[in-house]
Amino acid sequence: MNITARDRLRLLGGASAALLGACGGGGGGGGTSAGQTAGTPVVPVTPTPPTPPTPAQTFVPAQGALRNAYLNDFKVGAAIQAAWIDEAGTDIDALKSQFNSISAEYEMKPDIIAPTEGVYDFTAADKIVDFAIANNMDIRGHTLLWHRTTPDYFLTGTKAEMKAKLEAYITAVLTHFKGRVTTWDVVNEVITDNGSEAQSPYRNSNWYQAVGSAEYIDWAFNAARAADPDVKLYINDYGTESTGKRNRLITVIDDLVARNIPLDGVGHQAHINVNTAASNVLQAVDAIDARFAGLENHITELDVSVYNDPGSCFNNQTGCAADYGTAIPASVIAAQAQLYRDVFTGLATRSSVTSVTLWGISDDRTWLNGYPVDRTNAPLLFDRSRAAKTAFRAVTDPTFEI
Ligand code: G3I
Repeated sequence: MNITARDRLRLLGGASAALLGACGGGGGGGGTSAGQTAGTPVVPVTPTPPTPPTPAQTFVPAQGALRNAYLNDFKVGAAIQAAWIDEAGTDIDALKSQFNSISAEYEMKPDIIAPTEGVYDFTAADKIVDFAIANNMDIRGHTLLWHRTTPDYFLTGTKAEMKAKLEAYITAVLTHFKGRVTTWDVVNEVITDNGSEAQSPYRNSNWYQAVGSAEYIDWAFNAARAADPDVKLYINDYGTESTGKRNRLITVIDDLVARNIPLDGVGHQAHINVNTAASNVLQAVDAIDARFAGLENHITELDVSVYNDPGSCFNNQTGCAADYGTAIPASVIAAQAQLYRDVFTGLATRSSVTSVTLWGISDDRTWLNGYPVDRTNAPLLFDRSRAAKTAFRAVTDPTFEI
């Protein structure tokens, strides 16, 4: 029970009045107390000190509180690294306790699985997949094709040779994980951020430049479907909460659907910040629902940065919001919690949303501690000591007052 300042004053006032009475001292406090007759010595009463308030208890979430809060709505996932699995008492405890889906933060990408053409190393990826299966968790395969994690060999030779190398890679990977990985981000971040570029809506990436068109996207989806008819195939990107990026993505999806390129869902990375309007995230889902009945939506990399940076911070690391250090203002923590609550509750009302993944577990290991600049960020549901944050309580307890 928290003792208010008023309570404390009342308690101390009572004690000081008794003390004054015992000493026959001044003020109104010199009276005798019941049972005493005038003249008898008054034994000083040692005041009972007020019970000190209990230190703020660290909130300990109930087992399964997060995943169970949305059990009928969507899987709740987290991105992890294979190295964390052997650590005890840290992120993995929270993962096993609160989540029911996993993404590999980097170990299921081509630069890790096959840095050399035709040579596959699934060791780290299998560690994550085996852990997920042993703990009854889904796995979101991330990702088969991303311009930032494409070894050079993919992008050399004729179009036919590049197509054959991509098909060979995708076939090998999907065959290896068949029956264990339920969803794949087949292509990641293939939409341009700049709608005025000549090749818009496509990103002018290494893939686009090597192939000379966006045809590589068709190759990827067709190869994935041929390798595994049962796995869900996603196109994944960031910035879908912004109408321009979202509309370019929709243009690309329109084209894929029109040409019967196999596609099951849209991944919205949702790397947002405390100034993002939850409605913008929800409108991204609504826009897909409105145009593509039957496609699923996944939130694939959710985190809420405590900083709202200008474009220059992302472009050339200038004008970035000042580092809070570990003293994140209470107002920012509260705004983050409210935004998480609004996003989660809004997504739970949209039946096309079948998975929501946080891009990490605890703040001390978020990629945002190093992007766009080195700075202390706090974008996730567990803090640096792996205690559940206000945001965790906000998304798991509707009665919790932020
Ligand atoms: O720590 C290992 C080291 O032990 C190992 O020897 C080395 C081998 O390359 O990798 C090291 O891991 C690094 C890893 O991050 C952990 O810090 C990798 O080099 C590095 O490439 C990796 O970066 C990841 C990045 O994607 C590229 O895969 C980030 O963790 C990850 O957060 C980031 O995630 C992306 C999504 O896939 C797509 N959306 C954006 C998001 C953030 O950039």
